[in-house]
Amino acid sequence: MVRNALLCGAAALLLASSAQALESVTNWGGANPSNLKLDVYVPRNKASSPALIVALHPCGGSGQQYAQQADYSQAAEQKGFIVAYPSATNDSNCWDVSSPQALKHEGGGDPTTLNNMVKYLVGKYGVDKTKVFATGSSSGCMMTNVLLATYPDVFAAGTCYSGVAAGCLIGSPGNSPSSSDRTCANGKVNKSGAEWAKLVHDMYPGYGGAYPRMMTFHGTADNLVFPANLDEQLKEWSTLLNVGFTLNATNDPQPGYTKMVYGDGSKLMGFLAQNVGHTVPVHKDLDLQWFNLA
Ligand SMILES: *[C@@H]1O[C@H](CO)[C@@H](O)[C@H](O)[C@H]1NC(C)=O
Ligand SMILES: *[C@@H]1O[C@H](CO)[C@@H](O)[C@H](O)[C@H]1NC(C)=O
Ligand SMILES: *[C@@H]1O[C@H](CO)[C@@H](O)[C@H](O)[C@H]1NC(C)=O
Repeated sequence: MVRNALLCGAAALLLASSAQALESVTNWGGANPSNLKLDVYVPRNKASSPALIVALHPCGGSGQQYAQQADYSQAAEQKGFIVAYPSATNDSNCWDVSSPQALKHEGGGDPTTLNNMVKYLVGKYGVDKTKVFATGSSSGCMMTNVLLATYPDVFAAGTCYSGVAAGCLIGSPGNSPSSSDRTCANGKVNKSGAEWAKLVHDMYPGYGGAYPRMMTFHGTADNLVFPANLDEQLKEWSTLLNVGFTLNATNDPQPGYTKMVYGDGSKLMGFLAQNVGHTVPVHKDLDLQWFNLA
């Protein structure tokens, strides 16, 4: 009896900690000109009104790949939220963050397709519309910036690893290291906060509401997407969110990282990681805290 109970307990533990398989979804609806794909992590004990994290892979990656790099499954099982892992398939699997269609609310580019995925998941799983979040690495961080800029009424917050400000690649012929205009990634696009905010407002001219909260990371040793892009993102989002720089906290959350706090720290935070290259490792715990899912 005791032994059976122990075995049952062990089996239950195993069940609780083992991840579900990703579900491939094809029927989210709407146009899909660049052939995006979608995999979704739905936890066993999905909340009745779950939160949703859209997690975006780097160039060359895929939803399946990013589900390993940014594996939120354990927390999803505990908290009942859903994770969408979309895939880009064009242009070395990089997200389009440069074309006129992409840099426009309902412009018909990748952000529109991604928002159509969100709409589908909201309908299918009863997602709480106030708890839709985006995160990503490299190209996925660039897209996080663009999603928050083009769909500020959909996303409540974002976190971001080693990307660039929304609009930084405007006019570039492509989005991969080989197809893009490298000026932005090389850290040579330097705009004022007001210039960045204008670029973002022009992506959704009718919008007068608040912009999503943002937390963004970059490494000082990043030679692919230069760290000047952290400052550009902070100028952009501090203007959009109307928060000024408050203080630096050194060695936070770990040695070598500097946390740059804006306002009271509830809307905008930047992290500069000394001697960290491309990309800053995903800090799942900080992501979940930022999304109030910890
Ligand atoms: C695919 O990417 C290339 C850039 O490499 C771009 O010119 C083309 O428009 C993209 N195609 C679609 C359907 O988005
Ligand atoms: C960006 O431009 C401003 C204003 O011209 C200048 O003060 C600042 O040093 C520049 N920053 C970089 C990183 O070039
Ligand atoms: C805060 O930290 C950043 C990154 O290390 C640095 O560029 C900036 O000068 C610091 N600001 C202050 C006021 O110390």
